[in-house]
Amino acid sequence: MDKLFLASFLGILITAHGVAGNMVCDDDIGMLEELESLEIEEENEMELSPIPAWTSERGSKVLVNVDSFGAVGDGVSDDTQAFLEAWDIACSTPKSVLLVPEGGLYLVNATRFKGPCSEKLVIQIEGTIIAPDEPENWDPELPRVWLDFSKLKGVIFQGDGVIDGSGSKWWASSCKRNKTNRCRGAPTALTIDSSSAIKVKGLTIQNSQQMHFVISQSDSVRISGVQVSAPGDSPNTDGIHITESTNVLIQDCKIGTGDDCISIVNASSNIKMKRIYCGPGHGISIGSLGKNNSTGIVTKVLLDKAFLKETTNGLRIKTWQGGSGYVREVMYQNVRMDNVSNPIIIDQFYCDSPKTCQNQTSAVNISQIVYRDISGTTKSEKAMQFACSDTVPCRDIVLSNINLEKKDGTVETYCNSAQGFGYGTVHPSADCLSSNDKECVFINQEENLEDAGTSREHIVHTEL
Ligand SMILES: *[C@@H]1O[C@H](CO)[C@@H](O)[C@H](O)[C@H]1NC(C)=O
Ligand SMILES: *[C@@H]1O[C@H](CO)[C@@H](O)[C@H](O)[C@H]1NC(C)=O
Ligand SMILES: *[C@@H]1O[C@H](CO)[C@@H](O)[C@H](O)[C@H]1NC(C)=O
Ligand SMILES: *[C@@H]1O[C@H](CO)[C@@H](O)[C@H](O)[C@H]1NC(C)=O
Ligand SMILES: *[C@@H]1O[C@H](CO)[C@@H](O)[C@H](O)[C@H]1NC(C)=O
Ligand SMILES: *[C@@H]1O[C@H](CO)[C@@H](O)[C@H](O)[C@H]1NC(C)=O
Ligand SMILES: *[C@@H]1O[C@H](CO)[C@@H](O)[C@H](O)[C@H]1NC(C)=O
Ligand SMILES: *[C@@H]1O[C@H](CO)[C@@H](O)[C@H](O)[C@H]1NC(C)=O
Repeated sequence: MDKLFLASFLGILITAHGVAGNMVCDDDIGMLEELESLEIEEENEMELSPIPAWTSERGSKVLVNVDSFGAVGDGVSDDTQAFLEAWDIACSTPKSVLLVPEGGLYLVNATRFKGPCSEKLVIQIEGTIIAPDEPENWDPELPRVWLDFSKLKGVIFQGDGVIDGSGSKWWASSCKRNKTNRCRGAPTALTIDSSSAIKVKGLTIQNSQQMHFVISQSDSVRISGVQVSAPGDSPNTDGIHITESTNVLIQDCKIGTGDDCISIVNASSNIKMKRIYCGPGHGISIGSLGKNNSTGIVTKVLLDKAFLKETTNGLRIKTWQGGSGYVREVMYQNVRMDNVSNPIIIDQFYCDSPKTCQNQTSAVNISQIVYRDISGTTKSEKAMQFACSDTVPCRDIVLSNINLEKKDGTVETYCNSAQGFGYGTVHPSADCLSSNDKECVFINQEENLEDAGTSREHIVHTEL
């Protein structure tokens, strides 16, 4: 990441505090530095050619076309067996390309595609893969998955194809749609589990039965140019869900669903999101965490450049009462909101349950959360909400250059048990954040810019 930007940012931080006569905590500076150095290698466009060169004279790639295994691709015939047979060959052959060709509509049942596979496998999806649409006929052995890939290493998923969960009957049978329905989980369209060094590029994932794309128990996953779409009222259809995974990069993705565009849950760290379009949906979320007294840990999350349109939440952290663990080192920057209901929200009283949730003494501990350069319009008056547990307050919330406005109306910030500070423009004002009383250096109101400049120099030379 841009080290010079960090230098100037810290310079501004100190200058701003010098002028405003606020407090700066050593912790804050350390935290910002650490977040700035959050390194996740970004997509190198040169590495991937749009279509692998399987026709090359050197014959470096082995083409495994599902059609050669009897897939019909008419949207009616069951192509599951053909896909499995093609998978077995592609997976066991080095440098192979499993091709789902353009033009076909392949009906495939809930299936586990298991690794480990030989090196350099590419899964090239150009056609459309659709799921059977009847929940009653779903394989009872695989209630939560449709296309499930596991134990892969160094695999590339790419193409202009579509993965379509045909989810409408599942949505209709959801207890969120109709309270008389039994609450049950539904399949995830695409799962990548227990894998590493995975790239997913292009692809459209749509109308999933429930979550669209889950990354679980995986390390080093780069997702770029993926589109996710489902109706805004389809229940629990999260776009990209990350659980128990590390070093995940999501960039240039357009996501619109009936739930979170991106959700990041337990045991995940080093998650970087860049150039994300979200809407409709419930926003970009960390959590929920801590349900049923569980432990939830999420650290080092960076969102840079996002546009959220007409979402119910913008940047959200949600935790249940009674949980434990922590969320720390989160930075959101360069975010534009358009008519978002809750643009900035930390909710430690999250309760997605028909019963009310009692307040408890234990809570997931939230600290070191930075918001900078966030602007746009809010639908609700409470443009910023920091609803934190009375017993486990949120600490070190930093706000810089925030400008959230409501068409014809005033905006405000709600705080409960939240500690932090703002500098630069912060609108609505964040005066309800309490300041940290210890471990902070008071920067004198009289301090002039020359002194601030010296401080900046000091940081540049010693810390970078
Ligand atoms: C899919 O699997 C289910 C359950 O195992 C089965 O009833 C059904 O015939 C299979 N094929 C399709 C296309 O649904
Ligand atoms: C909910 O489901 C019940 C039972 O299937 C049905 O009678 C009722 O009409 C449904 N309500 C709505 C609002 O769809
Ligand atoms: C969260 O992750 C930690 C560490 O992997 C694990 O011990 C804990 O059981 C997980 N919590 C839940 C709710 O799965
Ligand atoms: C969570 O723990 C609290 C305190 O020990 C207990 O009162 C409550 O019933 C527990 N909740 C659940 C869902 O287990
Ligand atoms: C809550 O956690 C307890 C103890 O870990 C477990 O026995 C219970 O099944 C969980 N309840 C739910 C609804 O997940
Ligand atoms: C905001 O969204 C609501 C629908 O949720 C719509 O009625 C309203 O016109 C929108 N406002 C603006 C300014 O776009
Ligand atoms: C829990 O605590 C919060 C903050 O003090 C309060 O606003 C809320 O009403 C309480 N909820 C319950 C169910 O007691
Ligand atoms: C929450 O985390 C902060 C920062 O790491 C720590 O100082 C504080 O003691 C923790 N609070 C609780 C209740 O564990």
